[in-house]
Order: sequence, then C-alpha cells, then structure tokens
Amino acid sequence: MSQEYYKTKESVKEYIRLASGVDGNELINRLKEFLPADSTVLEIGSGPGTDWKLLCKDYKVTGSDSSLEFLSHLTSSHPTGKFIELDAVSLSVNEQYDGIYSNKVLHHLKDNELIDSIERQNEILNSGGIVCHSFWKGKGSEIFKGLFVNYHSELLLRDFFEKYFEILVLENYAEFDEDDSIILIAKKRL
Ligand SMILES: C[S@@+](CC[C@H](N)C(=O)[O-])C[C@H]1O[C@@H](n2cnc3c(N)ncnc32)[C@H](O)[C@@H]1O
Repeated sequence: MSQEYYKTKESVKEYIRLASGVDGNELINRLKEFLPADSTVLEIGSGPGTDWKLLCKDYKVTGSDSSLEFLSHLTSSHPTGKFIELDAVSLSVNEQYDGIYSNKVLHHLKDNELIDSIERQNEILNSGGIVCHSFWKGKGSEIFKGLFVNYHSELLLRDFFEKYFEILVLENYAEFDEDDSIILIAKKRL
C-alpha cells in the first residue's frame, strides 16, 4: 500500500507531535514477562522512536521503518542507534532475532499481507522466539488520512498466528477508549 502520510516531512512532523506523550510502556512490560533481558529485538515501524528507546533499556534493539522520513528522524535523534529501512511484509533481513515487536503498525497491512508478514516473522525468529504486536480492535477497514487501516478481532488474529505461534497473550486494552486495542504475544513453535 502507498502510505504517503508517513512519507512527507510535514506529516511525519505532525505525527510525532500528535503521538507525543503516548508510548508502549504497558506492552513492553507484558513482553518482558516472556522475553529475557539482553535478547535481540527487531522493532517493525519504529516511527518516532518512543518505544525503540524504551525497548533499548532491556534489549539489543534494531529499529526499522519503511518511511525514509521516519528513518531520518530516528538516525538524527539517536546517532548511535541501529536502524534499518524495512517493509513489514517482506522483512528482508539476513539476521535472526529473539523477539519481534510492533506497536500499531501491522494494521496498515491487508489480510493477505499480514499472513505473509507472519510467515516471514516465523522465518527470521530464533527457535522459541517471541512476537509482541498491538492492533486496533474492530471490523473491516477504512482509509484514514490517506492511510489504509485494517481492524482486527481476537478470533482473526488467533487464526492468522496459530499456524506458526503458540498464543501467550491475546487481550483487549485501552489506547484511547475502553477495549479499542488488542495486544498479542506469541511464541514461535519449536
Ligand atoms: C501508527 S505509526 C506507529 C509508530 C510507532 N510504532 C508508534 O507506536 O508511535 C505506524 C508506523 O508504521 C510504519 N509503517 C507503515 N506501513 C509500514 C510497512 N509496510 N512496513 C514498515 N513500516 C510501516 C509507518 O511509517 C509508521 O512509522
């Protein structure tokens, strides 16, 4: 999908302003229940880098994004950080990771793209590796600010992930409104 909103200097600046004060601390605390400290983690769609910074307190993190504007912001804000240009579907990396994390990124994928991404996540995870992702809860899809947004149910996510992963956490939580979001944590099948 063309995601122009994330690709211009002005809109990236706007996103960073609107997202200030919002972070994935609660999600990362849940991840820490399952993924030991010092593990390697790939973050997909790091965006402003707020969660990347939190993840770095416990893990060896590679940040990534498909938007060059966000990558430019990330590398200039954190010159010693490790960041790569990466698409969430093809996940073209040569390395293997112990964990894969994303916060409100995979809802930009169509169902078939999410299924491909999950297959690729399984391939680039070490044995017993952990994924932790958040989604917007709901039905159907829409275009918001020119961006494709897909809504998910626990049932659908279970169906998509169970082929490769053992589901450890699949719960609703509130990002802005009660139960507007879903957290999924799952372990690569041995
Ligand atoms: C809603 S923002 C979330 C950013 C960050 N995770 C946060 O919590 O603030 C979505 C992010 O996903 C990135 N993104 C969108 N589609 C992507 C794709 N196909 N591959 C990789 N990143 C993508 C965008 O560039 C943007 O940084």
